[in-house]
Amino acid sequence: MNLQNCYNFDDFRKLAKKKLPSPIFHYIDGAADDEITYRRNTSSFNDVDLVPNILKGVENVDLSTTIFDKKIDLPFYCAPTALQRLFHYDGERAVGKAAQKFNTMFGVSSLATVSVEEISSLINTPKMFQFYFHKDRGLNDAVMERVKAAKFDVMALTVDTITGGNRERDLRTGFTSPPKLTLSSFLSFALKPMWGINYLTKGKFELPNLQDHVDEGTNISTSIGNYFSTMLDQSMSWNDAEKLCSQWGGHFALKGVMSVEDAKRAVDIGCTGIMVSNHGGRQLDGSRAPFDQLAEIVDAVGDKIDVICEGGIQRGTHMLKALSIGAKACSGGRLYLYALAAAGQEGVERALNQYRAELERGMKLMGCTKISDLNRNNLRFRNK
Ligand code: LAC
Repeated sequence: MNLQNCYNFDDFRKLAKKKLPSPIFHYIDGAADDEITYRRNTSSFNDVDLVPNILKGVENVDLSTTIFDKKIDLPFYCAPTALQRLFHYDGERAVGKAAQKFNTMFGVSSLATVSVEEISSLINTPKMFQFYFHKDRGLNDAVMERVKAAKFDVMALTVDTITGGNRERDLRTGFTSPPKLTLSSFLSFALKPMWGINYLTKGKFELPNLQDHVDEGTNISTSIGNYFSTMLDQSMSWNDAEKLCSQWGGHFALKGVMSVEDAKRAVDIGCTGIMVSNHGGRQLDGSRAPFDQLAEIVDAVGDKIDVICEGGIQRGTHMLKALSIGAKACSGGRLYLYALAAAGQEGVERALNQYRAELERGMKLMGCTKISDLNRNNLRFRNK
């Protein structure tokens, strides 16, 4: 198995599994409790069928869309994800440069392994920052200012990690940031010597956007679940979100909205977008899939703010379905992370290229030439 044999999500996943020490692979691949929501996020797309139209003259397809006042060439983007240099030594640099090539949005996590300043000097295409509200108010203010100075376009406040999800695969493998070599994990690292050589020789692993304020994650090993539960502020409220929104003063989104009530409230506090998301099934198992929840949220707020469908997307046709419901764009983490682990920037570019090709082909077969041609008449729900 090599990059040239990767034709879809599952192929990239298999190659990532081959390249990564198992604690790291399972950190990406795993989710909360019984992983029911994780699986449902993808299978929900199969409960809806596409109904194509014909004879529409589809030789030119325009996949561009506008989110947060930025025109991007694809109706999907790279959602912010943590710790990318553990997956490939180029980490966020690789994903950012790939996103720039395709002129789509690149999301950078607070827990990124490259600084926001470096990302900003590296790419000039739209950038989103994923904010985690810490107990340390000094940290929160400093991060806001840094991201503002680095001229990011969108601030996304994470609202679904108020405590750590129960990720049993991480408990079993002992996954931490930074990774810790223990007696039980030794073999899994020893089996992937190339990963180890790159990890030790390609620059020190760090969390440059946080480490002036916290040792956890950089100098002190911690699991992500434990980081969420101990470092983040569980008293975070609508009042805090509203203050952050006005402190930022630009495009502001809540990442992890699942109810109509919360979507409406997001509009009230001044948000310009929301990600309908359950954090890739990594937090509350048993929670509804974003795609299942999309229609009612779009109906409630879709004419006021950008609604983004995030989670479970593995195919261009999944995106066609979400866009037909009324999502402005789709996003995902695993969508490009396995490809990053498989082959760095080249891998991510191959994955983005395949999603673009799938979308273009799907649009033609649907009889659509622009994203706004997609609508609910193109869908039938099996169980309704
Ligand atoms: C996770 C966070 C860090 O789900 O986004 O692991």
